[in-house]
Amino acid sequence: MKLPQTVALDDKAKTLDIIDQTRLPGELVILKLSTLSEMCEAIKLLKVRGAPAIGVAAALGLYCLSERYAESDTGTFLTRLAADGEALNATRPTAKNLSWAIGRVTAAAAAAASGGVGAVKDAVRCEALKIRDEDIAVCKAIGVNGEGLIRSGDAVMTVCNAGSLAAVERGTALAPIYEAAERGKAVSVFALETRPLLQGARLTAFELTEAGIDTTVICDNTAASVMASGRVSAVFTGCDRVAANGDAANKVGTLMLAVLAKHFRIPFYICAPYSTIDFDTKSGKDIVIEERDGEEVRSAMYKSPAAAPKAKIYNPAFDVTPAELITAFVTEKGVKSPKNL
Ligand code: MRU
Repeated sequence: MKLPQTVALDDKAKTLDIIDQTRLPGELVILKLSTLSEMCEAIKLLKVRGAPAIGVAAALGLYCLSERYAESDTGTFLTRLAADGEALNATRPTAKNLSWAIGRVTAAAAAAASGGVGAVKDAVRCEALKIRDEDIAVCKAIGVNGEGLIRSGDAVMTVCNAGSLAAVERGTALAPIYEAAERGKAVSVFALETRPLLQGARLTAFELTEAGIDTTVICDNTAASVMASGRVSAVFTGCDRVAANGDAANKVGTLMLAVLAKHFRIPFYICAPYSTIDFDTKSGKDIVIEERDGEEVRSAMYKSPAAAPKAKIYNPAFDVTPAELITAFVTEKGVKSPKNL
């Protein structure tokens, strides 16, 4: 099945249309969002998730919201746009793409202020669509730049979901895999299930198998033994924020894979657009790691409790992989050393 775009704009209805990822792989449901609270809730609850996807969702979302503003004074219009941008930005702290996209839309709006509300509205629409279109082009370029790292017969390991469901389409870490497969290479994937919300088992395995790619889901704690068996040619992951020194935050469990990859001498690649690089953050120590509700670990995806009710839960959503464990970044500008981004 060809999936619809993960994040899309219905320009007639002025709604942000997203695939509800909490319902996958069971049902493919499109949500049409038109209010700030619906958009914030969708991002917080991971109905839309993945760094590039939430950036594009915020940009298109701001456009849909601004089309409903009654304000006719440019100053108050811009103040409201900034406030809505801040509310969207507060939903999740780790992915750089969120503040990056919101910053671009609000800056474009401010730059058009002298033309009045009409000009500001045009600027918001134009910038939001540009961010969406760039995401599609950038993911395609990451795929083209990364596919040369995959030989026919390779098996790639990945964690979480950094595929089409984490961007408008195609994604980052899965883009080289799609590109290699389209060019006739036989490539298979080991997808870590990715506790606690199972983005690997539910989303990565879903989109890859729908695209006809040979995919095996493994429990997170199976990664070492699969690598030890010699069956993994490379690890490809996405990322949520890269610090200026090349340290990279991605789904918790990524650091574990990087440490293992070094031990087993397997190349470890992070695929990311430049919009994920935060040159203002010096090192990984300065990256804010989102901590999510312990109930996700205790019960969310299970019918019966998955942890003892009296136990405390620690549930960070991301971890930081130091630059020295990263073989290279695959970006839209080419394959880059972590020290030369
Ligand atoms: O909590 P999630 O599902 O939003 O985490 C997503 C990831 O960690 C992805 O790997 C990352 O955002 C890169 S997506 C191209």
